[in-house]
Amino acid sequence: MCGIAGYVGQRNAPEVLFDMLERLEYRGYDSAGVMFIAGKRITIIKDKGKVREVRGRVKPENYRSNSGVAHTRWATHGVPSRINAHPHADCKNLFAVSHNGIIENYSALKKDLILQGHVFKSDTDTEVISHLMEEYYKGDVVKAFRETLNALEGSYALAVLCVKEPGKIFIARNESPIIVGLGRGENYIASDAPAFMPYTKDIVILNDLEYGIVSKDGVEIFDLSSGRKVKKEKRTLDWDLKEAEKSGYHHFMLKEIMEEPEAAANALRACRDLKQIAANLNAKKRIYFVACGTAYHSGLVGKYLLEGFNIPAEAVVASEFRYSTANTLNRDCGVVLISQSGETADTIAAGKAARQKGAYVAGVVNVVGSTITRIVDDVAYTYSGPEIAVASTKAYVGQVIALTQIALELALAQKKLSKQRFTALEKELREIPSKIKSMLVENDVKELAEECADRRTLFYIGRSVNYPTALEGALKLKEISYLHAEGYPAGELKHGPLAILDKDVVVIAIKSGRLLEDKMNSNIQETKARQAKSIIVAEDGDIKTPAVDPLLTPIVNIVPLHLFAYYISVLKGLDPDKPRNLAKSVTVE
Ligand code: AGP
Repeated sequence: MCGIAGYVGQRNAPEVLFDMLERLEYRGYDSAGVMFIAGKRITIIKDKGKVREVRGRVKPENYRSNSGVAHTRWATHGVPSRINAHPHADCKNLFAVSHNGIIENYSALKKDLILQGHVFKSDTDTEVISHLMEEYYKGDVVKAFRETLNALEGSYALAVLCVKEPGKIFIARNESPIIVGLGRGENYIASDAPAFMPYTKDIVILNDLEYGIVSKDGVEIFDLSSGRKVKKEKRTLDWDLKEAEKSGYHHFMLKEIMEEPEAAANALRACRDLKQIAANLNAKKRIYFVACGTAYHSGLVGKYLLEGFNIPAEAVVASEFRYSTANTLNRDCGVVLISQSGETADTIAAGKAARQKGAYVAGVVNVVGSTITRIVDDVAYTYSGPEIAVASTKAYVGQVIALTQIALELALAQKKLSKQRFTALEKELREIPSKIKSMLVENDVKELAEECADRRTLFYIGRSVNYPTALEGALKLKEISYLHAEGYPAGELKHGPLAILDKDVVVIAIKSGRLLEDKMNSNIQETKARQAKSIIVAEDGDIKTPAVDPLLTPIVNIVPLHLFAYYISVLKGLDPDKPRNLAKSVTVE
């Protein structure tokens, strides 16, 4: 997730653009840049670092232009650096592009463009867009833009400048947001409304597969497939600036939960790198998933999935792994580090220890260019976008999807899974983002949270692939509500915790479809007999989840539990984004 801001009008664009960019920094913050047309050339100034730092260095007040586009980056392809920062120009500096999203077919496009003589400067997927514009341009910018868009596969919000048509910004959208802010004698574009909220609240929203031309006097939007002009309604926002930053949500945590369908779709886009990791793990005798907190729970899902296919695997918390399991490693071992931030000290130390022992080490990481990505043999990104709330939500969904893909690939390679079943599961995986979306649109989780907010303690129980879901559901609640919650293997309750069950206790039972369903039902009966309030998470449960293969239930089951924890925190008057005593990234051991 990156932030794009654009301006055309009477004021000095470079300065307006940096103001806008500062209000978009929550969308990404590893590098920033701005482009504008002055004289007969496109000027691009960009650098690594936070928007304010880059602004201090480039001094936009020293430049003059009435139109331009700026970008704050959250790296997906290519580490954070000046060269990889946006915008990106073509060989002749005719066009420059800022992009938010992922161009899935960029490697093939890049190869073709190089064969045609184009010279690339960056490692980004974005740069193919400016070179495609150059390639297709025969005197008609809009035609070249349309042809370029038709060549792209993946997600994009785009803003393009062309030296031949100063005073115009060419924009397009597919699966990544871009909106237009309407001013008087000036117009704006942005990934999100906060960028231009101090100037205007009147907006026009682009839908997927639409493109447009924005000038100081007007905005025209077209449909990509037909090329026909689309009539757009003006909408007026009634948000204040703080709300707008969160796209109208009260908290980043809720915004990030609502982004889970997109995070799921993006994690599915990492399949090529995950295949590589699975191929390397295939040569190893022992496999370990190593991580902390939430990321560890996703590793535990990976372990259960692999063991379900009869492939031995272990999940170990990084702080323990380093001082125990690591001693037993050798070249026959494969270690997968999982981390949202890529900066967790315990996970980094575990990875280094594993490498010292000669093990193969891979990373499943969200933040591109982070420390973990630099110490591993292979990395697969989850592309979840920046996670601002301390409690990890959408990143977990991305991690579980990534590990599911690794498990399926490995099981296929070891012939523990038939090609037919593999294809069926893959197909189901691709339907997950829309299933998550429908669950987020309609559910009764808030009402259930109201019934539970004053209970003494909550047990989350599950079996097999959903035992980790139980752990993660409980961790989320603890983190942001300060209630006592515990995740437990459902079959283990009778070996102790049943003693504390009574009517003040809630038991959240998380089913795995038909997998071990009878056993789960017995465990639920045990808790009901002690008068505990039970909430069943299942296709036909109190919290209804979509029908999916049992192996994919950990992905959908966690979604309502994220909402449940969020609502309880809010009901208790707490700030779910900033739980006491916790930091987003734990960089000390
Ligand atoms: C998640 O809600 C927690 N804040 C925490 O457990 C987190 O998952 C853990 O610190 C690991 O972080 P990482 O994914 O950035 O490595």
